[in-house]
Amino acid sequence: MRDFHAKKLSKEPQFKIHPWKIIEEEFNIENNHHHESIFCIGNGYMGVRGTLEEDYSGPENTTTPGFYINGFYDSEEIIYGEDAPQLPTKSQTIVNLMDWTGINLYLGDEKLDLLKGEVLEYNRELDMRKGILERNFIWQSLSGKRIEVEIIRLLSFKRKHQGLINYRFRPLNFKGEIRVVSTLNGNVQNHHHFRDKSVLRTKNSGFTNGRSYLHQATKESGLEVAAAVKNIIDSKADLNYRRDTYEIDNCLHEEIVINARAERWCKLTKFFSIKTSRTLDADRLVGQVLTDVNLAAEDGLVKFLRDQKTYLEDFWEDFDVKLYGDSSLQQAIRYNAFQLLQSTGQDEYNNVAAKGLTGEFYEGHYFWDTETYIIPFYIFNRPEMARKLLKYRYNTLEQARKNAGRVRLEGALFPWRTINGEEASGFFMGSTVQFHIDADIAYAIYLYVTATEDMDFLYKEGVEILAETARMWCSRGNYIHENGGKFCFNEVSGPDEYKPGVNNNCYNNYMAKFNLEYAARTLKEMQEDAPERYENLKNKINLDDKEPDQWQQAASKVFLPFNEELGVHPQDDSFMEKDPIDIDRDIPHSEMPLVAHWHPLTIWRYQVIKQADVILLMLMMGNKFSLEEKKANYDYYEPKTTHDSSLSPSVYSIIASEVGYLNEAYNYFIQTARLDLDDFNENAHQGLHTAGMGSAWMVLVYGFAGMRNYDGEIQFNPYLPEKLKGYQFTIFFKGRHLRVKVGPEKTSYRLYSDQPLYIHHCGERYDLEPGREYNFDNRDFSQLPWRE
Ligand code: BGC
Repeated sequence: MRDFHAKKLSKEPQFKIHPWKIIEEEFNIENNHHHESIFCIGNGYMGVRGTLEEDYSGPENTTTPGFYINGFYDSEEIIYGEDAPQLPTKSQTIVNLMDWTGINLYLGDEKLDLLKGEVLEYNRELDMRKGILERNFIWQSLSGKRIEVEIIRLLSFKRKHQGLINYRFRPLNFKGEIRVVSTLNGNVQNHHHFRDKSVLRTKNSGFTNGRSYLHQATKESGLEVAAAVKNIIDSKADLNYRRDTYEIDNCLHEEIVINARAERWCKLTKFFSIKTSRTLDADRLVGQVLTDVNLAAEDGLVKFLRDQKTYLEDFWEDFDVKLYGDSSLQQAIRYNAFQLLQSTGQDEYNNVAAKGLTGEFYEGHYFWDTETYIIPFYIFNRPEMARKLLKYRYNTLEQARKNAGRVRLEGALFPWRTINGEEASGFFMGSTVQFHIDADIAYAIYLYVTATEDMDFLYKEGVEILAETARMWCSRGNYIHENGGKFCFNEVSGPDEYKPGVNNNCYNNYMAKFNLEYAARTLKEMQEDAPERYENLKNKINLDDKEPDQWQQAASKVFLPFNEELGVHPQDDSFMEKDPIDIDRDIPHSEMPLVAHWHPLTIWRYQVIKQADVILLMLMMGNKFSLEEKKANYDYYEPKTTHDSSLSPSVYSIIASEVGYLNEAYNYFIQTARLDLDDFNENAHQGLHTAGMGSAWMVLVYGFAGMRNYDGEIQFNPYLPEKLKGYQFTIFFKGRHLRVKVGPEKTSYRLYSDQPLYIHHCGERYDLEPGREYNFDNRDFSQLPWRE
């Protein structure tokens, strides 16, 4: 193991270890920014960063308040230093929307502020079973007034447009006036990306029957949003309060003055509802959110809490991963699953942004991350969510067709970065040059369909994507005489963004071949299985019966790089002739990640890799390569990889497990699983890494348990890492629910459904009957000739 990784591994867990909670025991400025991301809550539709209810008086660079709705964006003209034809002209950036979380307390003249006065007790917890964020503290003002505060924050999974804050407080050593100011603040802006920061224009705002509301519109994208807030003060408390409302500069205030008694709890529940013009006529928005917030208040806190818990009980039942022997990893694996769920769009029109709903970085864009690192998690844990994410691509196929036309290609080319389905990246080297996104989507369809047998999806939506992406590849490649008449792909890039614009990237070519073959095969099968649907598709996309044969023909000729002498698969035609460099010796740690320190031209010169590329191929097309080849590629590429992208360590871990490098596999696992909690890359304050979250599960299941789905046959090759005492998980496969439990020597399987299932365990086929427990010996590594 290289020193670089070892250094990263010396991280101590940054949060108290708890199986179901993330706990912050002390509030301080140094951690605030990171913790704002960690304590994000969301429900797939919207997400709010873990900022405090009270105004934050710390330095500006230690906070990035943010509240986002998945897919709600605005655009600006992209300004290029040097323009070129056919580049995208409009950006898309997720908008930081109104801050509805503000609640300030004034004890007489003194404003509650954790950075002033003294915090006597403090605790913040993200409870992953209840789906709430709780914060409790005792604060003493400069004049010595002590107050105890308990706050619950929730965004409802069940009512995706609603959320609430329950704010309880009691004076401990004084009585008298406490002023509570609850705000709905439309005077917010993005912290990054937009040149003109104020992208939202207020159309309407005000107060009506105990509710405040705000209706805003973006400048360019034409999207509109309205939100309403209703503050309910606990009426049982006999507090003799006064209320007042006023608006200052787009910020709606509701002020409640309470005559508080010592030791007596006061309770404010702030209900919130929001809707956008994406699903409702703009002129009905305000009326709707006002009605919704009334209904929310009628239902009340207890119902919200109950519904949230029920929703999560279901989720945790599906996603049942247990790790014995390292409770920090148990915590992390649950945290990743939970945060991923909080960021996943569930309506077929939204997807999962690279930072989810937890930050502005990457502008709220969806990437290939979803298909490659997130969809596997859902296919095996919540297949219906995987279907919805794939449907998002189907729903943006028209834009992908136009995108292909932009670069003179046929069929459809999915955008490298997008929200609305159009290409949003203004950077083509290292970005839109990654044509492999089409094949990644095709592969995700394959993985989903073979695991679920959802032929309805395949023949309705999937097949159209397959046909259009196959067309793209056919028009993108060429038979090159000088290369033995092989079908080649020039000027492409694999996942390694440090080698853009190369010929015959190995990952690209194998994946393109797969895409072409799978499309041809599916169409042929469909002709037999669903002739009517086939005819409809033919008419819809103007398909010539000869096309599938052309795809098949191209696929059979795709150039597949291999270097006999080294026994490895060259990353591309020129990789091996690039300047050599020794990462440990020649690159100071302070210059990592290279993408943030070196000019691209410097990086491109060297044999240095940003993230798993050939090694990712070893996973995706695992049945096309021998174990010896995987090992040779691992040995060759691992020392050349900086892991400057968080999409890398997980894949290296999985292949390290496969080739028997168990220490490395484990170390890369820690790096993936605790990436955000322990802030391995020191950038979690920008938002959480959703691809890393999906792949933490993959490392456990694909890596340690060696699970693969090849053409609908499920394989396991499990072992127990030395540092663990055991682990277990469940998967959905072909409508069955299978529990896999791995112990020190044996793995047990149990089927929780009516139907039997056959599996492969360490190369042997076994037929499993429902309800019975099967125990088989774990993988035996002693056979590997290179094992130390
Ligand atoms: C990686 C890409 C990834 C993007 C968003 C980049 O740093 O190189 O592969 O899609 O981040 O996560």
